[in-house]
Amino acid sequence: MPPASRRHRLAPSLLSADFAALGEAVAAAEAGGADAFHLDVMDGHFVPNISFGPALVAAVRARTRLPLDVHLMIEDPLRYVADFHRAGGDTLVFHVESRSDPEAVIREVHRLGIGVGAAIRPDTPFSRVEPLVDHLDQVLVMSVNPGFSGQQFIPEVLPKVRAARERVDALGSSADVSIDGGVVPTTAVEAAAAGATFFVCGNSVFREGGVAENLRRLCSCVEEGARRAVR
Ligand code: DX5
Ligand code: ZN
Repeated sequence: MPPASRRHRLAPSLLSADFAALGEAVAAAEAGGADAFHLDVMDGHFVPNISFGPALVAAVRARTRLPLDVHLMIEDPLRYVADFHRAGGDTLVFHVESRSDPEAVIREVHRLGIGVGAAIRPDTPFSRVEPLVDHLDQVLVMSVNPGFSGQQFIPEVLPKVRAARERVDALGSSADVSIDGGVVPTTAVEAAAAGATFFVCGNSVFREGGVAENLRRLCSCVEEGARRAVR
């Protein structure tokens, strides 16, 4: 597919929103043009931080019709696939570095009829996810070490975005290549130019200024990057 015709989507990460006013954050992002929501689930084992579980995903599900992208930063994603499906996740993204068998996770998520993505940490080579790409709806390249929002983008991951894009295109797949961590206007341009189509944005949407204005700026940066990818 030529790069210009690819669909690019922005997914605000609710980890950066005010948890005490989550419904308002969801409404503001939806009104501001968000394409999906990204929900970061952390278990205090796979990553040092603890965030939230299926109950919060279900609460967000009740507030929006936009797709919910659930990023499972947990040791045993296979054990919780059914719970996050029941909570209303549309895509479940697991880590290839987790303890679960990747093929079993993919099979189980697909059996439930929702999308599945595989994520790699910044220090994990693309080769770890490459054999799975044909069975995925999303390849998520992490551009910070998982665990916290508001970190700096690691530009060394961009070659993996390019490799993922090449592989997805070579397979004729419509899978998204996602970038997650430190996505701000400047890095959004770079990630789009490298072939990313799905942009997770936490602090750059929720922490300063207005949500709608932040989304507009990020969107025009993604468009600029996508134009560079065409050249
Ligand atoms: C980090 C999470 C990210 C994070 C993004 O472990 O996976 O989704 O919340 O937040 P920003 O965009 O602020 O880096
Ligand atoms: Zn995430």
